[in-house]
Amino acid sequence: MLLEPGRIGGLELSNRIMFAPHCSNTGGERGQVTDELIAYYRRRAEGGAGAIMIGTVRVATPIDSLKMSARQLCIDDNSYIGGFFRLTEAIHREGSKAIIQIQSGSGGNVGVLGEMDQWIPGLPIEPVSPSGIGWPGCPKPRQLSTGEVEEIVELAAKGAHRAKLAEFDAVEINAHALYLIAQFMSPIYNKRTDKYGKDRLRLLLEMVQRIREVNGEELPIIVRYTIATWPYPLDEAFEEREEVKEAKLTAKRLEEAGAAAIHTSYNYVSWVFPEPSSHWPENFSLPMAKVLKSAVSIPVLLTGRVRDPDIAESILRDGDADFIAMTRPLIADPDLPKKYATGRVTEIWSCIACNECFRSLERHVQVRCAVNPTAGRELLYDYRKLEPAKEPKKVMVIGAGAAGMEAARVAALRGHQVTLVEKESDLGKKLELASRLPGRKTFKDINSYYTTAFKALRGKVEIARGSEVTPELIAEMEKEGMMPDIFIVATGGSPFIPEVPGVKGKNVVTFLDVAADEAQIGETVVVVGANIIGCEVALLLAQQGKKVTLVELPGFHAKSDLDGLNVEGNIWAFTEQELQKANIGLVTAEKLATITDKSVIFEDDTGNRLSFDTETVVLSLGFTPVNKLTRHLASKGKEIYTIGDANEARKIKDAVYEGFVVASRI
Ligand SMILES: Cc1cc2nc3c(=O)[nH]c(=O)nc-3n(C[C@H](O)[C@H](O)[C@H](O)COP(=O)(O)O)c2cc1C
Ligand code: SF4
Repeated sequence: MLLEPGRIGGLELSNRIMFAPHCSNTGGERGQVTDELIAYYRRRAEGGAGAIMIGTVRVATPIDSLKMSARQLCIDDNSYIGGFFRLTEAIHREGSKAIIQIQSGSGGNVGVLGEMDQWIPGLPIEPVSPSGIGWPGCPKPRQLSTGEVEEIVELAAKGAHRAKLAEFDAVEINAHALYLIAQFMSPIYNKRTDKYGKDRLRLLLEMVQRIREVNGEELPIIVRYTIATWPYPLDEAFEEREEVKEAKLTAKRLEEAGAAAIHTSYNYVSWVFPEPSSHWPENFSLPMAKVLKSAVSIPVLLTGRVRDPDIAESILRDGDADFIAMTRPLIADPDLPKKYATGRVTEIWSCIACNECFRSLERHVQVRCAVNPTAGRELLYDYRKLEPAKEPKKVMVIGAGAAGMEAARVAALRGHQVTLVEKESDLGKKLELASRLPGRKTFKDINSYYTTAFKALRGKVEIARGSEVTPELIAEMEKEGMMPDIFIVATGGSPFIPEVPGVKGKNVVTFLDVAADEAQIGETVVVVGANIIGCEVALLLAQQGKKVTLVELPGFHAKSDLDGLNVEGNIWAFTEQELQKANIGLVTAEKLATITDKSVIFEDDTGNRLSFDTETVVLSLGFTPVNKLTRHLASKGKEIYTIGDANEARKIKDAVYEGFVVASRI
């Protein structure tokens, strides 16, 4: 089914996998199409997706001039058409269809991403909304007049027409995620007394009708809107929810108005955007597609943590949806459709739902991926076409974390003779430990991917598990004339241990000890350091029934990481909520001073002390690079590279990228 053709109105897609709409922030400053953007989407078309959906393209700038990301796309005047035409041509050349998602107004997203410097210069900085009701914490918006709402309808029809001229095959209306249209549909935000308030769906219905009038049936219209708010009960009570009943009715009215398909979306109680991280169950959105299927006869597109093509296949076979749209699974592996089609499912580079891609947008940079170092960098790299090494060399990679495994894989693919040495008995030990933290199960999928990749390389990467590279071993290799030509030091990081009295006590452990389940933990625990790992360790301990106090110190504070954009918004929203639910006390302190066998004491600059009685102290103060070998090897006159946390403690994304880049160049 998944690989069979499917229809949306008069449009035929070669299969039922779609690249779901998303902003990749690869557009130009004005929102025009760039070469970088074309390369990104073309690569997904080349990977075999039946349709490429381009999100979320502004069409109503004169009414709402907020850019949702620094390089959000725009099609609200004719000068944009040529760029989009180059894009659709590239997508069509690969045999895929091109669908544009149009967006009329940022609505409740003002202030979430919409910092003031994201307003288009020269236009008023003026949030607008149906009834002047703002999203909590955002600037108060102005209420739109009836005439302005009518203009939104016209602007959408014009935008869709330009898209048609650019040879898009279909258009999707973005009516979800609290954008302006979603606000009009919402009883909370729409309190209007005019025709757009008396019928909250009227604006959307008029848009569908007008786009159809202007563009004819040959431009099918898909509508994406919110069906339910997560978390919802996964039982029959789901269908009884008022919002779900209304969503069904909405689907029927959209079908009558001429929509060609409905696309599922969802809200999340404490966060606006629909990017469900690994903390949400896979395929959680399936009940939404099911209810829509029971309401309409037009196709239903299902999106939301569906990453396993076998499951996608069974969803379609069960008749619960007609198309599976995926965003992150195809960012992570554009070749997912082709791999599925050729029986290479185990080779799929699975998305771990870590939301690094979305964090890129929050930071106003181009999309990047934790597991696919080439995502967003298609103009620079294609992992299928790595340049063979000019001179194959003996390469020793020391440490099999994310950085080391990627370096070993890429170096071997390029023809080097690679030995990967790991002191633990298994590869990717830290990833495995991280996967034991709440909501992070997917982290160990990275290990599965590399295990498969090394098997496929058939002996080109020799793996030495349980062996440590020491100065003695290096001396021995030298003596035996067995020294490699190149060393890649990927020895990772170890938990930072501050030098304070009592830190060596038996009651003091690290977050890694907790994850490894190797430490004796008392009934009362103080976790020192409330970075995201500290928060997750605190949650894990609370799940084990411990009484946990979490102490944030300067620099170790997930909320400020969020502001500093080290933590992605969806993930923080989830974690914050779980901390509250678990009743974990969060305390702010300045400096860890002393640990005794029964307490931990903090101090501020003026000498004031804050003391907690506790049986166990868990330190979560980040990693320090472990790279003594680099210095040792430097004296041997060999080519040496230090990558990943051994270089500087950062994220998986950085480790994988560094492994890839270094191994691409040697
Ligand atoms: C980086 C990024 C940007 C996104 N931008 C949009 C967007 O512009 N329009 C939209 O409807 N959804 C957007 N989404 C949501 C996706 O369409 C999709 O609903 C979400 O990623 C869950 O699906 P997945 O599990 O297949 O990734 C975005 C998602 C990501 C990761
Ligand atoms: S960054 Fe993370 S969530 Fe985004 S596509 Fe890559 S693996 Fe998936």
